[in-house]
Amino acid sequence: MNPSNFPGTPLLTGPDAELKRRQILEYFHATFDRYEQLFEVLSCDEAYYVKPIALRHPLIFYFGHTATFFINKLVLAGLIEQRINPGLESMFAIGVDEMSWDDLNDVRYDWPSVDAVRRYRHDVRWAVDQLIRTQPLTLPIRWEDPWWIILMGIEHERIHLETSSVLIRQHQLKYVRTHPAWEPCRSGAGSAAPQNTLVDIPPADFRMGRDRGDPTIYGWDNEFGRHEVSSAAFQASRYLVSNQEFLAFVEAGGYADDTLWQEEGAAWRKFAQAAHPTFWVKDGPQWRLRLMLEEVAMPWDWPVETNYHEAKAFCCWKARTSGQPVRLPTEDEWQALRHFAGIDDLPGDLPVDPPAGSPTTANIGLSQYASSCPVTQFAHGALFDVIGNVWQWLETPIYPFDGFEVHPTYDDFTTPTFDDRHNLLKGGSWISCGNEASPLSRYAFRRHFFQHAGFRYVVSDAPATQPTSHYETDRLISEYIEFHYGDEYFGVANFPRTLAQLAIAAMGDKPARKALDLGCATGRATFELARHFDQVTGLDFSARFIGIGTQLAERGRLRYTLTDEGELVSYKECSLAELGLSDVARKVEFFQGDACNLKPVFSGYDFVLAANLIDRLYSPAMFLETIHQRLNPGGLLMLTSPYTWLPEHTKREEWIGGFKKDGENFTTLDGLKALLGGHFRLVRGPESVPFVIRETRRKFQHSLSEVTIWERI
Ligand SMILES: [Fe+2]
Repeated sequence: MNPSNFPGTPLLTGPDAELKRRQILEYFHATFDRYEQLFEVLSCDEAYYVKPIALRHPLIFYFGHTATFFINKLVLAGLIEQRINPGLESMFAIGVDEMSWDDLNDVRYDWPSVDAVRRYRHDVRWAVDQLIRTQPLTLPIRWEDPWWIILMGIEHERIHLETSSVLIRQHQLKYVRTHPAWEPCRSGAGSAAPQNTLVDIPPADFRMGRDRGDPTIYGWDNEFGRHEVSSAAFQASRYLVSNQEFLAFVEAGGYADDTLWQEEGAAWRKFAQAAHPTFWVKDGPQWRLRLMLEEVAMPWDWPVETNYHEAKAFCCWKARTSGQPVRLPTEDEWQALRHFAGIDDLPGDLPVDPPAGSPTTANIGLSQYASSCPVTQFAHGALFDVIGNVWQWLETPIYPFDGFEVHPTYDDFTTPTFDDRHNLLKGGSWISCGNEASPLSRYAFRRHFFQHAGFRYVVSDAPATQPTSHYETDRLISEYIEFHYGDEYFGVANFPRTLAQLAIAAMGDKPARKALDLGCATGRATFELARHFDQVTGLDFSARFIGIGTQLAERGRLRYTLTDEGELVSYKECSLAELGLSDVARKVEFFQGDACNLKPVFSGYDFVLAANLIDRLYSPAMFLETIHQRLNPGGLLMLTSPYTWLPEHTKREEWIGGFKKDGENFTTLDGLKALLGGHFRLVRGPESVPFVIRETRRKFQHSLSEVTIWERI
């Protein structure tokens, strides 16, 4: 096979659906073929069953897995009805993601024979082939289209083409053999690496994140959304760091110097007993390099391959010895240097079968070699290897762009990696194909992981700022975030917003300087009141609740998970901008406090809201008897409550109503009138305002809160 004929990921647009169908059919078969061809390098059946590295499955799993993925996703999407082999499809379903470098998996499997898996792959190929030939197709193909699932299966196999090639590279030499379709670069071992120099990258402003409505090419969920970049000027190394450049770090004792390593990196290094890059082989006084299928004399001018920790330690050493602020690039900086180098982002521009001398020619997508090549071979403007050769580790852990949504057919592709423990790699390697080869793609791995990955460094005074990937997963907090900022259920209007609207209407022409939202929880009413008042204070007993309001006021956005059923969750995001509240964020502040024992500073208000608060207090009477001290004369107090008196919040003797008194019903409203009568006049209510709190996808709490508004006399 001529590697350069391996097709790139197809455009999902175009005028001719039947032409597109044939293109996708070819793309599917070419990918399926190339994947099977990779396994031809294994020298014997035993090579399928001996684990290349302890923490991953043996290769027989990966041989079956990419076929099973098609079937599992197509069944899930309702595109095929019949499983092909339920037994194999449960065995090959999920790759055990290594949870950490010391997390050993001892589960035993009764693996099938290689021939049985080959027959299974043949059957899957036929089923997918038939589907591609018959499934109705209209263009463009969007992410909700059934064809998206077919492309998902193909792109998934292309990812495993690369990750399996790494496992094969980690296999013992006796289990592999050279193969004409997997010829490495033969550049010779004697070539010295060039002296690396720095290239000035100018400031740049641009937008990252793809539009789900206009996909162009297949993409994984993490590529979609919005991220505005304003990148300052910095310098980037002209070449990827070569084996020779890295040798200086090894020879300077870099692997033995704890001060160059972060805590996590030092722990990995000690666990792995690493003293040099993993694919380097010491042979007496000489160094050799393990390629996928053979060992060769060290090509010093090829890029070094490391994990993130080693790259980071090198940068620390380089910074120390050069006196310059050397570090890895951030994702924004990598995109800035790509723009600077003139590498386009559309698949037609990808170097799948490039014309000679094209500025985007690169050692990528199996278009050149089945290995790395000299760092001087592919120039991209003033830089070399902006894409291709080896992946480039970044300083940035993967995080969701604004507007991130999971794809419903593969909802755990990215979300498990939003943990600040998976760092992005960019640029692709010699075997990165399809979506992997797109500069728009965003792949992330655990920091100790090995891929065909190295790095380039940057020199910048700016710190590597990290966006957050955090999701609020505390169940109670998340329910309240949804209650305040999420969807409306059963036609019931957003409760805090409705209360604020009632309050603002009741205020009329009264002064509207300061308002207090007592028991503000996650703070929606605080923000809503700030549409009218000059300054609003949200106050809650729970610091966890206050943290949500504060985070929204500071960042304008937060992410949370909602329980769907059992352990299944959905991923959600809310933003002040989408609620029309960005402009008022500067007028709010949040504090922790006890409504029954307020600090003196919380006074002089024109309006006080106590929403669903009084039946949660340990002493509601104490609160009601003193709250007038906080209000200006003529100011309003708004109380809302479902009057759900519960002994765990309020001892029975502290209830202010909801019981028989002198043989007659004594309601909470009766109690309010008795306690507030001396300082307040009831000016509105009582009236009921409904609210709905979502507990799971199928369980909702629907309540009626009684609203009364009192004027301070
Ligand atoms: Fe997979």
